[in-house]
Amino acid sequence: TQRTLVLLKPDAVRRKLVGEILGRIEAKAGWTISALELRTLDQETLEQHYGEHKGKPFYEPLVAFMASGPVVALVVDGERVIEGVRQLAGPTDPIAAQPGSIRGDFGTIVRENLIHASDSEESAIRELKIFFPGLS
Ligand code: GTP
Ligand code: MG
Repeated sequence: TQRTLVLLKPDAVRRKLVGEILGRIEAKAGWTISALELRTLDQETLEQHYGEHKGKPFYEPLVAFMASGPVVALVVDGERVIEGVRQLAGPTDPIAAQPGSIRGDFGTIVRENLIHASDSEESAIRELKIFFPGLS
């Protein structure tokens, strides 16, 4: 089975959508939350995490937003969980996201799109090392 790194972004925490979003993840059969922490991200962590976007026009405001308040960082294990959480989240642009998805139900702003989830097995391995280096 797979393991993925999920971040409930500062907008999700501020808007008190943590329970709602965790509930959708927990409700999926056989998926398990194996680590979870409320944490305010520093610049170094964000540079590592979003390094692929460095130099893009949205990079600086993205990092500022991600550091603007605590996130909930979690590790989810289970069957096809990498693709599965991306599917629950919906596309990056919340207006393009279907109702029923997390971004489609709660978002309007591309930057403030509530949730991050690793987009591939390679990304998951890389991101898990950044956020939960002690995890076996
Ligand atoms: P993450 O799970 O956060 O990585 O989102 P994603 O994989 O759906 O999108 P991507 O990795 O391409 O971009 C990372 C984040 O940057 C997005 O979630 C948005 O918050 C923000 N972002 C991406 N593209 C744009 C854009 O064109 N404009 C703005 N303002 N923000 C963007
Ligand atoms: Mg991404």
